[in-house]
Amino acid sequence: MENLSRRNFVRKAGGLAGLLSVVPGIDALADPPLPTAPRWPDEDVTANEDYWGWVQKAYSVSPNIINLNNGGVSPQPILVQDALDRYNRLSNEGPTYYMWRSLDEGRESLRIKLADLAGCSPEEVAINRNATESLETVIYGLNLQKGDEVVLTKQDYPNMINAWKQREKREGIVLRFINLDLPIEDNQAIVRKYEEAFTSQTKVVMITHLVNWSGQIMPAALIGRAARKRNPGVHVLIDGAHSFAHVDYKVPDLEGDYFGTSLHKWLSAPFGTGMLYIRKEKIKEVWPIFAGADPQSGDIRKFETLGTRSFPTEMAIGHAVNFHQSIGSERKQKRLHYLKNYWLEKALDIPGVTSQTSLKPEFSGAIATFLIKGMTPAQIQSALFTKARIHTVGIVWENINGVRVTPHVYTVLKDLDRLVNTIRVIAKENAVASSSTSGK
Ligand SMILES: Cc1ncc(COP(=O)(O)O)c(C=O)c1O
Repeated sequence: MENLSRRNFVRKAGGLAGLLSVVPGIDALADPPLPTAPRWPDEDVTANEDYWGWVQKAYSVSPNIINLNNGGVSPQPILVQDALDRYNRLSNEGPTYYMWRSLDEGRESLRIKLADLAGCSPEEVAINRNATESLETVIYGLNLQKGDEVVLTKQDYPNMINAWKQREKREGIVLRFINLDLPIEDNQAIVRKYEEAFTSQTKVVMITHLVNWSGQIMPAALIGRAARKRNPGVHVLIDGAHSFAHVDYKVPDLEGDYFGTSLHKWLSAPFGTGMLYIRKEKIKEVWPIFAGADPQSGDIRKFETLGTRSFPTEMAIGHAVNFHQSIGSERKQKRLHYLKNYWLEKALDIPGVTSQTSLKPEFSGAIATFLIKGMTPAQIQSALFTKARIHTVGIVWENINGVRVTPHVYTVLKDLDRLVNTIRVIAKENAVASSSTSGK
């Protein structure tokens, strides 16, 4: 009976599961049906705890800590973990047959699925292991010469900054850094900062769409437009590690030439999964890091010559896309922003608490930082964990000083109430301790 009903489901399901059903021996391992989501078709479910209770049950996060560091990496829903497990077991029955011949047949349908989510052509999507790999493929793959200038910010991600610095050292390209004082709730002011750094030598502009340190959403399309106005041939590279499947947009809306993201962040895909988008006309111009037979081809697949990697991991991505779409990008963004504001607005009422994150939805999503006057981020992070097993991360980095708090779709309000109460206790204890010290 069990096998029969699974087979029925496989027949009905599209995408990878449907494809696998035609491969002998695999259908027994196909995906069991998704738990039925409650039906709230057109209603705004942002603050509907029954709806989000269903989402929460789809995850297996520990009840023993309150994980508010989802800005680092996301946990996977149980159905993604299960798919990964099944594909892995199957691959171990005959790696070269099941992994290379059978599972790999799912790659093209996965490409279509990801392209649908990203809003672009499948011919513009390469599947890889993370945002670092995606973005460094472009950073190292662009033809640049000594004296060519790259505009970036000190708040970009260190891996990308370091990759650019390596090119600076090896080849003499010139890096022009902007230093942002976040939050900034004025897109034109952000664009002006970039404009001040553009020169006739600017060949690349690097834009982090959602700044991981503080949660600021950057006006990527406006920055790219300003760069092209100054120099029409400029390459626009967008780091979407934190915005993809978090903020509701399509990749071409950002008007970049290149876009890299991790899928193990907000999409909740298996650890070690990423996606590179390159605008069709630009593919030829970028040299792959791992060369195939024709490194100058216009086929996006030339960036997938990675050698042996985990196909089970890649193939389970499709299940994460399904899960994400069962919620919907718009709903997810609204909920994440709601959760952030839920705790941050209350925390900002506590004397001595400040934040470097906007409360406005145009400039922020789930990520926010806060600081308690007179304490370091490390002290606050440690106190949150000791007092209430709340896991966060302290950040001291280029103008950003605070504890970063990042809820996810599975976060329950009670845990955020616990966060605010604990911040209140820590702030009060700190105020009492500093007034007794100053009285001595
Ligand atoms: C803005 C940004 N870009 C890139 C990355 C790199 O992601 P990964 O480690 O998955 O390659 C991160 C990781 O946190 C990030 O926050």
